[in-house]
Amino acid sequence: MQLPSMNLEGKTAIITGAGRGIGKSLALGLGAAGANVVAVSRTQEQVDEVASELRSMGHQALALSVDVTVMDSLQVMVEKTLEAFGKIDILVNNAGVTVKKPAEDVTENDWDTVINTNLKGMFFCAQAVGRQMIKQRSGSIINLSSIGSKVAISNSVAYCASKGGLAQVTRVLAVEWAKYNIRVNAVGPAYIETPLLKWIKDQPEAYGRITGRTPMGRMGHPDEIIGAVLYLASDASSYVTGETIFVDGGLLAYGI
Ligand SMILES: NC(=O)c1ccc[n+]([C@@H]2O[C@H](COP(=O)([O-])OP(=O)(O)OC[C@H]3O[C@@H](n4cnc5c(N)ncnc54)[C@H](OP(=O)(O)O)[C@@H]3O)[C@@H](O)[C@H]2O)c1
Repeated sequence: MQLPSMNLEGKTAIITGAGRGIGKSLALGLGAAGANVVAVSRTQEQVDEVASELRSMGHQALALSVDVTVMDSLQVMVEKTLEAFGKIDILVNNAGVTVKKPAEDVTENDWDTVINTNLKGMFFCAQAVGRQMIKQRSGSIINLSSIGSKVAISNSVAYCASKGGLAQVTRVLAVEWAKYNIRVNAVGPAYIETPLLKWIKDQPEAYGRITGRTPMGRMGHPDEIIGAVLYLASDASSYVTGETIFVDGGLLAYGI
């Protein structure tokens, strides 16, 4: 028998939010697996650095400054990717933001910022790339969810709403696009040490509470998200769609 492979040679992957944190690890990880990588974020210098690092390892990479909340720029992202690599096999919808506030203090602007990036931006990226994947009759889309799609995270009402919505968008797209041989899945991290969560390290009480509730007793490293995304991006998961893989050190399994 032929063992399933996670080799991505010859495939092209767009990764949003690839300038730092989890997205940077995913860009380097998918590149190391053989993919041509399109690294996307608003900050050109950060994605330029990621693309340079990939090229220095012998991989092909393109860096694009795109804001996922600006609808017109999503089509430009698709066109520039096609100019460079001719097709799009993988989209990792990773760009995300949060606003930490008690629910009673959340403003309309806070709500719109989080929902427009994590939910609206995620969906319209999937739509722009999905239209190309429909033409190609193949593709794998992976959306970055969170434990906040399943359980409450205090002071994060808009964030949890965005990730709950993302879980449903993932299922609907999986169902609608299965006939085009496009799989749509999600990966849900718990607490990962990235710039998004650097506030935790500065608050010993919060850090102790979070690691105390995590059976593995620590936060995760961004590189620990690569395996789940690589599996979902590759043919190793050819019969998996509409699913979320949680990468959480056992946190969601913890009952008390
Ligand atoms: N860290 C965790 O513990 C954790 C847990 C669960 C889920 N997640 C999810 O994992 C993803 C990555 O999180 P992270 O911790 O790596 O975050 P991060 O370190 O803050 O990085 C976020 C990335 O997204 C980009 N980004 C933000 N808004 C954007 C926009 N409008 N358009 C394009 N790019 C944008 C940022 O670059 P620019 O600001 O330069 O655009 C940056 O490259 C998010 O979806 C997050 O919700 C993280």
